[in-house]
Amino acid sequence: MSAAKTEILDLNRFDVLSAARLSPNLAGKVARRQANFGASSVLFFEQPIEMVKAEGAYLIDAEGRRYLDVYNNVPSVGHCHPRVVEAITRQVAELNIHTRYLNGVVDAYAEDLLSRFPAGLDTLMMTCTGSESNDLAMRIARIATGGQGFIVTEAAYHGNTALVTEISPSSLRKRTPAPFVAVIPAPEARDGRDVAESFAASVEEAIAALKARGVALAALIVDTIFSSDGIHADPPGFLQKAVAVVRRAGGVLIADEVQPGFGRTGGDEKGEGLWGFQRHGLVPEIVTMGKPMGNGFPMGGVVTRSDFVARFCEETGYFNTFGGNPVAAAAGHAVLKVLDEEGLVQRARTVGAYFRRRLEALMGVSAEIGAVRGAGLFLGLDFTEPSTGAPDAALARAVINALRARGILIGAAGKYGATLKIRPPLCFSNADVDLFTDTLAEILVQRRAGV
Ligand SMILES: Cc1ncc(COP(=O)(O)O)c(C=O)c1O
Repeated sequence: MSAAKTEILDLNRFDVLSAARLSPNLAGKVARRQANFGASSVLFFEQPIEMVKAEGAYLIDAEGRRYLDVYNNVPSVGHCHPRVVEAITRQVAELNIHTRYLNGVVDAYAEDLLSRFPAGLDTLMMTCTGSESNDLAMRIARIATGGQGFIVTEAAYHGNTALVTEISPSSLRKRTPAPFVAVIPAPEARDGRDVAESFAASVEEAIAALKARGVALAALIVDTIFSSDGIHADPPGFLQKAVAVVRRAGGVLIADEVQPGFGRTGGDEKGEGLWGFQRHGLVPEIVTMGKPMGNGFPMGGVVTRSDFVARFCEETGYFNTFGGNPVAAAAGHAVLKVLDEEGLVQRARTVGAYFRRRLEALMGVSAEIGAVRGAGLFLGLDFTEPSTGAPDAALARAVINALRARGILIGAAGKYGATLKIRPPLCFSNADVDLFTDTLAEILVQRRAGV
């Protein structure tokens, strides 16, 4: 059992000091990686894996072993989806260039993407990563509001630029964020208050703390399913009170859809709607995207109001060489079409609901599972010490490595790293759910029996 705060990249990280336990072949490959990338290299699992191929919800390693992917949300419509591969291949053979020339592929994509946002969110700026999107969103929010301050949750991760690292407490190993950042707890019911009230109260306190430092609020930025905070989706609408507090203080909401976006949370009752913020019945001023946007082709974007973009561009020259290139647009457009044609948002909803039912049933017979949360195909499962209810990161780590040994890939999240982060490609099936849940059940039974 351990309840120490964990940095997001440290979760399930291979420890280089244990390289001696690896086979000579694997140890050689790990040493080669280490020599090339040094301390910045992070590998998953006690036994790192060399991946060579993928299809649908499966990855295949150098020995030809197949792994069920319950971790990777970037290849969201399925690894190497033929429709996306074909779109990229066709466009890269025709033209790939920056956005300073007209090109219909890029505009057709922008129109399709923007048509999937609520009225008012009418302008797209394209980038290459989620980090760039959040960096740009922060700069837009500052100019739009005149404030400099940001409110973030305590285990949040929003990316890797200098500015965005300041609003990613989970990345800061040796210090707290800069004075323009106020950090609040993940959304949970506390002190007799429900989730909505306690989150709004935390936001209120954060605004006061910023004010006391002479900093006016620019934005509350949230990953709308609070992925690295351990996945917090319920009750739908809980963000509304906090956002009202933000707006009263002159700030805006930046919805980071890098993780939940593009249908993962299962949309509304009809299985429609691509965004996590829709679950909360609100419209953010700024939305950021990345990861699943190109199903693995590196692309990101910011969608906001045209007047915000106009004011930003009045003050700042902005050009992104690769952002919005025609190959990215072709990849992104193919993703939208596959989501529609294969009914993947509805599928995230129905397969996700089945997944949740199976995990809740397992929780009923497994004292070490403290909670199951989430929406659609984005679920979190907490491991807790049965006698104390304390987060059990050691068990999470052991389970992750035991699943890996049985051919299933998964990772952890949350302040303590004790939450299994369940976010497979959206083509996941009920049979895949059964394989995962049955294997997890078997691992827990064997651990209890001391096998
Ligand atoms: C919620 C969230 N926002 C932003 C990012 C940054 O995206 P990228 O790694 O593409 O820069 C991440 C990456 O993990 C993320 O999880």
